Amino acid sequence: MFTRVARRAFTTTRVNPYKVTVLGAGGGIGQPLSLLLKLNHKVTDLRLYDLKGAPGVAADLSHIPTNSKVSGFAPDDNGLSQALSSTEVVLIPAGVPRKPGMTRDDLFSINASIVRDLATAAGEAAPNAKILVISNPVNSTVPIVAEALKKKGVYSPNRLFGVTTLDSIRASRFISEVHGTNPTQEHVNVVGGHSGITILPLISQTKYSTMDKATKDALIHRIQFGGDEVVKAKDGAGSATLSMAQAGATFANSVLSGLAGERDVVANSFVDSPLFKSEGIDFFASPITLGPEGVSKIHPIGEISSEEAELLAKAKETLKKNIEKGVQFINN
Ligand code: NAI
Repeated sequence: MFTRVARRAFTTTRVNPYKVTVLGAGGGIGQPLSLLLKLNHKVTDLRLYDLKGAPGVAADLSHIPTNSKVSGFAPDDNGLSQALSSTEVVLIPAGVPRKPGMTRDDLFSINASIVRDLATAAGEAAPNAKILVISNPVNSTVPIVAEALKKKGVYSPNRLFGVTTLDSIRASRFISEVHGTNPTQEHVNVVGGHSGITILPLISQTKYSTMDKATKDALIHRIQFGGDEVVKAKDGAGSATLSMAQAGATFANSVLSGLAGERDVVANSFVDSPLFKSEGIDFFASPITLGPEGVSKIHPIGEISSEEAELLAKAKETLKKNIEKGVQFINN
């Protein structure tokens, strides 16, 4: 029989030793995202892959004294499949970002094939991994990943996520600026998709539902098009990277918390969703509960105002086209 002390010592084994892979780790989002994942105690094996620069980023991060091993991989020597081999969570920020004047949809022609090829590789090397898609246009790249995994015969709707957390964190920040409050205490349910008018912040569900119409319309517009502020300010040097890294790391932590069996882990994400499937919309962002298998529950969007119902109808029109575009890209 163990003594009290010995038993305690016996149970101090490492908990939550997760393998996490970042594809596009050398980029503007990939680098700070990898840093934040290096600081996450749930991650013990961090693999970084990019067409260029990932071994350097990995060497740099490997000097940080947290409880994880970091490895960098390049395309030669089978680097992609090594980075993915039996990994549990894959984050994909690979691809080109926007320049001033571009919409997220303008990125489709380049990013669609990048995401398709990375998803295909993930389907082969890590068929059970949770895949978190950051590369834009998310409304189309998520369906592309789904179709690529279906072709490999390994698609499971509860393992695929479009990362829309940046819309949620912007909503918290921007609504706090309107009301002079603490942004960490603000929460807005942002549903729909991840571009322009498909981003639908449900202000009627907040304590500010009686805000005057002009202020509310300006707030909704800022949440929908907040990314343009960054693209314009960076003046040709890309889009949001640091706030996106924070958003991606926050969402990845929610996924890891779900894997670890923590209870009541809820976050918004663009997922294969039953909510509007009857209208031909197979993917939709809403609150989801995360569990050991990935998505464990998809929550309805909740009550909305008549103004929001109009915005939702418009969002659904665009969303449907964006999703079809992704599906057709793979199937044609
Ligand atoms: P970036 O150009 O700085 O970095 C992209 C990285 O991907 C580069 O290092 C590049 O070498 C790499 N890459 C390209 N093709 C690859 C491949 N086949 N395999 C592996 N790596 C590959 O771009 P940034 O700023 O990091 O943005 C990345 C993506 O994230 C863009 O599509 C951007 O639109 C999207 N994004 C998404 C957001 C969201 O809320 N979901 C927010 C902001 C950006």
